[in-house]
Amino acid sequence: MASAAWGDGLLLGIETSCDETAAAVVAQGRVVLSNVVASQVELHAPYGGVFPELASRQHVRDITPIIQRALDEAGVELAALDGIAVTRGPGLSGALLVGLNAAKGLAMATGLPLIGVNHLAGHLSSNDLHYEGRLLGAQDLASGPLPPRPPRPQLALIVSGGHTDLLWRPADAPPLRLGQTCDDAAGEAFDKAARMLGLGYPGGPAIQDAAQRGDPGRFPLPVARTRDPLDFSFSGLKTALLRRIESLEEGAAPLPVADLAAAFQDAVVRSLVGRVAVALETRLPRSIAVSGGVAANAALRAALAERFDLPVVVPPLALCTDNAAMIAGAGWLRLRAGASADPLDLDVAPSLAL
Ligand code: KG4
Ligand code: ZN
Repeated sequence: MASAAWGDGLLLGIETSCDETAAAVVAQGRVVLSNVVASQVELHAPYGGVFPELASRQHVRDITPIIQRALDEAGVELAALDGIAVTRGPGLSGALLVGLNAAKGLAMATGLPLIGVNHLAGHLSSNDLHYEGRLLGAQDLASGPLPPRPPRPQLALIVSGGHTDLLWRPADAPPLRLGQTCDDAAGEAFDKAARMLGLGYPGGPAIQDAAQRGDPGRFPLPVARTRDPLDFSFSGLKTALLRRIESLEEGAAPLPVADLAAAFQDAVVRSLVGRVAVALETRLPRSIAVSGGVAANAALRAALAERFDLPVVVPPLALCTDNAAMIAGAGWLRLRAGASADPLDLDVAPSLAL
């Protein structure tokens, strides 16, 4: 049986919480044997954001072929798996239902354990699936012990389209949330700013691209203060950008999109880096880990590496945005921590907290 060859813990991961239909096979919670993602970006682009009903229906079309591809690319049969890990929340309920029901069907047919996973725990696990930015693959299993996981205690920043959380991760205890956004998530702010600047969807990569040609100091934007210095707020920044656009549009010159994109990105990065700096005033982590779609941002990566004298761990780009390898990684950790299989009447949890 293939699982014997992989040691133990060959999990199929399934992720459909938002606009990516994804499946992956991961060994021992760390080694990515396949990682297949069908992005719905083009489907939602005309709406400037995710259209939930369309997302669910596209998941229904894609889920079975994507799972089959993940198994084929890993060279693994269903019977060789040790379990099925699936995102049960947080996310869009209709979208989550598609992945969860597919996982239940497979679990029922095979008798394999069903492992419901918190999507945010998945993002945290994305940094266990690479070593210094190189995805761990089958060759790493063959060549002896796996490289170490990023050292803990760890300060972890999850920055995605739906979440902005600063967490403390002790070595052997559940994560503790230190701060969160009071309004928009960082990725959501990128998406809204890009729409204002006519840059399309998703906004993060579009803003990053435009910002490369711009001067962040020409129209600087403020970083919002929050009552709790470890919380985040991006709605004021969005309004400040809107006001700036309105006043520039009163003139005859074309909108300086690149400068505005650079100023916006710079303000988001200063806000994120600033909160990490505040946390470091009272905590002594052994690493800083960033995950979620906004972790793909090159300016954020550079600013963190430059500012802090600690290992800054960031996933390769394919593991920043939503994927199922990270769900299998988190599912394996749940099993290893002694969790039993979830019942087959497990429900989705659209507002699940970490
Ligand atoms: O983690 P993710 O795929 O989905 C959620 O769980 O929300 O994150 C998607 C978010 C989008 O808002 C997108 O604009 C943002 O990540 N994003 C970026 C970059 N690439 C993706 N934001 C800033 N810079 C990027 N390069
Ligand atoms: Zn996500």
